[in-house]
Amino acid sequence: VKHGTIYEAIGGFPTINNLVTAFYKRVGSHPKLIPIFPADLTETARKQRLFLTQFFGGPKWYTEDRGHPMMRRRHLPFEITPERRDAWLECMDAALTEAEIEEPYRAAIFEKLTMTANHMMNTPDK
Ligand code: HEM
Repeated sequence: VKHGTIYEAIGGFPTINNLVTAFYKRVGSHPKLIPIFPADLTETARKQRLFLTQFFGGPKWYTEDRGHPMMRRRHLPFEITPERRDAWLECMDAALTEAEIEEPYRAAIFEKLTMTANHMMNTPDK
């Protein structure tokens, strides 16, 4: 692994794996998120493991598997409202706790994900 990355500092793939598992467990039971996610989150979680690995400085597995990230474009088929952004970030906040990701990495990760989540919004609240 590359040195000096968030990916390396938090413990690499095993930590990403725990984070993503803890995250989708919550997404799958969040009333605001259930309507837009598939019932079976196995494949969604697999892609997210690849993406977050790359996003935090690890190997570029997402791009190898799926091509250019184009995250905003990939989210356009789903109505992402401010409420759903908040719900997504709530699930992530709890998952960061469950995966025992410590400061200062926790805050750095949450900030990066908050900026990306803001960028993903494409629909006003109803
Ligand atoms: C895919 C919702 C933010 C990364 C998806 C999917 C939904 C979704 C419904 C499709 C799931 C599927 O069909 O498997 C949301 C909502 C967000 C949000 C409501 C709130 C703002 C983010 C953020 C990131 C992210 C902040 C990354 C930092 C991904 C990835 C995929 C995905 C990597 C898989 C894309 C692919 O098909 O390769 N998201 N998302 N999402 N999301 Fe999000």
